[in-house]
Amino acid sequence: MEARRADFSPDPGHQGVPSGESLIREARRFLRVVYAEQGWSGWAARWSEVRAEIQRTACWTPTSAELTYGAKLAWRNSARCVGRSYWPSLVVRDLRTVTRPDEVFAHLVTHLHDAWNGGQIRALMSVFGPGVRVVNDQLIRYAGYCQADGTVLGDPKNAELTRYLQHLGWSGGPGTPFDVLPIAIESHGSVKFYELPADAVREVPLSHPDFAWFTELGLKWHALPVISDLRLEMGGLRFACAPFSGWYLQTEIAARNLADADRYHQLPAVARGMGLDTRRARTLWQDRALVELNVAVLHSFDAAGVKISDHHTVTRHFVRFEERERQAGRRVAGRWSWLVPPLSPATTPVYHRRYEDRHDNPNFYPQTRLWAPSRRQAPARCPFHVPRDP
Ligand code: ARG
Repeated sequence: MEARRADFSPDPGHQGVPSGESLIREARRFLRVVYAEQGWSGWAARWSEVRAEIQRTACWTPTSAELTYGAKLAWRNSARCVGRSYWPSLVVRDLRTVTRPDEVFAHLVTHLHDAWNGGQIRALMSVFGPGVRVVNDQLIRYAGYCQADGTVLGDPKNAELTRYLQHLGWSGGPGTPFDVLPIAIESHGSVKFYELPADAVREVPLSHPDFAWFTELGLKWHALPVISDLRLEMGGLRFACAPFSGWYLQTEIAARNLADADRYHQLPAVARGMGLDTRRARTLWQDRALVELNVAVLHSFDAAGVKISDHHTVTRHFVRFEERERQAGRRVAGRWSWLVPPLSPATTPVYHRRYEDRHDNPNFYPQTRLWAPSRRQAPARCPFHVPRDP
């Protein structure tokens, strides 16, 4: 298949564009690693072909197999990801000929169906062509509507994105705490937004194995985390539109998204349901509510037949991954503060280990956000948002 050039547009969010010698150097280093690790023959012929292509076009075109392995390496190198033991299982959809927003959106919907796989979620990446990108940071996000009374209806984390989409012309959803946001796609300076069909967004309603009242909280979460705004880099090339998804680790939903005071802030409600004394921190009502919220998420995903990891198993697998990497003569890069789960951290092996935070390439890099243009500006916040009382 004929793939077009990778996106070479300079991005102020990252170091300069690799060009000339450095592109040759990075492409060479990348191909060496890929051919060696994969045990492929014909490296010399392939390298002279790629070098000639770079000299002719200032760009080079990975084969689908090279692209796929490069994407796996980017995952393996992601210092913040505790789920990396599964890196060899990543499936890559090579969509480098797709650049038109309407077609990109249609393929994003297919991505959601393929990744869902009837609940047996598979790790999946879709790599699109140059000149297009997804504006949303994840394909599935819940709206955060700023209310006149100073609260946010929905997910406060997405208040800025919600406002941006409304500014683009989105008229808003039905007004629940879990309205799925449309997806904005940018191409050549113009942005279009698209509503996801309901059957592409699989959700799990939350219940608790022992607390019947739990369902009255009306909580749910979507099954698929699909990171859609990071740039994939490999061999000196940059792919600005390469959304990828895995499956959830329950702490992401239960110990952060639903629990954080500046997210859904559900610990007080759970504690009240449990009849705990929330007036004194020393009753550990927050800790007890947190555990039960995590129990509920695991129970609900399991009951719905939707794949999800727990923090004990995933960290054990992570340590095994470290061991395998060591045996292969590589050092795992890691960011301790991200690898350690936010629930019962010291009961997991990663808490007791040390990690070196490095950016080995291939890897994923942040890009400038259209809806929060500069990190130097005041933090993106809803002007009305005042954190609610516990
Ligand atoms: N923490 C993010 C969220 O709660 C998702 C990040 C990716 N997570 C994953 N399991 N692949 O939505």
